[in-house]
Amino acid sequence: MLNEQLRRVLQQMPKAELHIHIEGSLEPELIFALAERNGVKLAYGSVEELRAAYAFTDLQSFLDIYYAGASVLLKEQDFYDMTAAYLKRAEEDNVRHTEIFFDPQTHTHRGVAMDVIINGIYRACQDSPVSATLILCFLRHLSEEDAIVTLEAALPYRDKFIGVGLDSSEVGNPPEKFARVFARCRELGLHLVAHAGEEGPPAYIYTALDTLKVERIDHGVRCLEDPALTERLAREQMALTVCPLSNIKLCVFDKMEQHNILDLLNANIVATVNSDDPAYFGGYMNDNFIATFEALPLGLSHAQRLARNSFAAAFLPAAQKQQYLDEVDAFFAKV
Ligand code: HPA
Ligand code: ZN
Repeated sequence: MLNEQLRRVLQQMPKAELHIHIEGSLEPELIFALAERNGVKLAYGSVEELRAAYAFTDLQSFLDIYYAGASVLLKEQDFYDMTAAYLKRAEEDNVRHTEIFFDPQTHTHRGVAMDVIINGIYRACQDSPVSATLILCFLRHLSEEDAIVTLEAALPYRDKFIGVGLDSSEVGNPPEKFARVFARCRELGLHLVAHAGEEGPPAYIYTALDTLKVERIDHGVRCLEDPALTERLAREQMALTVCPLSNIKLCVFDKMEQHNILDLLNANIVATVNSDDPAYFGGYMNDNFIATFEALPLGLSHAQRLARNSFAAAFLPAAQKQQYLDEVDAFFAKV
């Protein structure tokens, strides 16, 4: 059991979240409320029935339900309400800064316009006391041409997002499939990240780094299968945005006791803790920290390191980053 002091520290320490899909923050209650508001018919009869379907065996079994849940989002206010609800939970967990993924193709393919999506999410970010920026993710099960069309449609709103990422079905859709669109995003000065090494092999982490030239790896937990890659990630201080509860729910590890986040830290990798899709995986930021620290021999020094890593790996101006790091150290000096 976690001692009370450590639990309180995990809850109260300032932290950044760097891996959250905003569509994955849609709670079943909000899905049903939006379905009713918009006259959308769902395949599930009740909140309980929907929640009961959240028994995943792998990434794809989750994605099928995640895309179905997102089908209730039609109007700008829907995107606003979803984002505002997440930011409120983040604030309660003492998240000071968050970099939010959104999947425009999930919505544009249903006929929702790009401005509706971006303006709704962005306006909620502006109205929150939590510092929040946006990262547009391309769906890797779709073609690179579709990603290019999506990028072009988003460029009128270039000032409203800071980077691009790559998510959805990983195996069979390697990073190099998106070499051209990422090269274009790099020219545009966008930050670059990609999911790699969640279900996919270490080879995908290499191509995310060397072909896409990403600045962070999302998940990346399979890097430990390759000692040379592990050493490189540590040497380059390439951050991994690890999502412990997600990894358990999607059967990347059988049990939290088997999660490798402590091994990553011991290999001197800049690992961070994140919620991924909190409405689907059983918890927000503090739930992820608590579940991880309950299962593994992690203590105060690890908590401080993970809080520092979250800001160190954030896409923030140097002065602001230093301010957050000082805030973390001041917090731990009083523990
Ligand atoms: N992996 C890939 N795609 C996703 C995820 C994830 O964990 N969450 C939402 N889309
Ligand atoms: Zn993810």
